[in-house]
Amino acid sequence: MDLFEIAKAELLRSNADRKHPFRLMYLSTFGEYPEVRTVVKRKVDSELKLTFFTDSRSPKVDQLREHPKVSVLFYHPKKKLQIRLYGQAQLIDEGHGDFDRYLQSVKESPSVKDYTTIQAPGQTLSEESEAGALFGDEIHFVAIEIHPARLDVLQLGRESHQRSLFMREKDNWIQQELVP
Ligand SMILES: Cc1cc2nc3c(=O)[nH]c(=O)nc-3n(C[C@H](O)[C@H](O)[C@H](O)COP(=O)(O)O)c2cc1C
Repeated sequence: MDLFEIAKAELLRSNADRKHPFRLMYLSTFGEYPEVRTVVKRKVDSELKLTFFTDSRSPKVDQLREHPKVSVLFYHPKKKLQIRLYGQAQLIDEGHGDFDRYLQSVKESPSVKDYTTIQAPGQTLSEESEAGALFGDEIHFVAIEIHPARLDVLQLGRESHQRSLFMREKDNWIQQELVP
């Protein structure tokens, strides 16, 4: 298998395997500084489109509205496989055809609470929130899809390392081998 197939196979495996290290991804956006944070990867499809969920009031959403370009990091420690994915984020909010389906799946899960804090994520905790009034009735939810444009895959090995850049051109991925 070439590096692209290895990377794709691991990403797809993480859809089903709850203990897979690619369940988490490290998403970076443009902010005042480069901003990076952990999010749960909800799904990756056969085109390597990634989906995650967030609070619609969170700073990353404003950052993505201004600069939709992102990079996403994955690392599999046992397989010594690093994937750096570069792409374009698309907000799936109210009015988008897929929004209701995503919202429904969240409503049916315990994580729905994550989207119901009275204050927006990242705000200084108010006295009311400190006193325990943290959650309200409103759900501030948005799904975000990341459409990949390139993938930088690094496979560490005992004897040697392998690294390639894969660039998307229409339905093909063009490979360029890189010095690791
Ligand atoms: C293990 C783990 C999983 C997380 N999953 C999510 C997630 O799926 N969505 C999300 O918005 N934040 C998630 N967070 C919180 C983010 O890392 C971050 O603190 C929060 O979203 C605020 O980011 P922002 O201020 O850049 O918008 C997770 C944090 C950890 C440690």
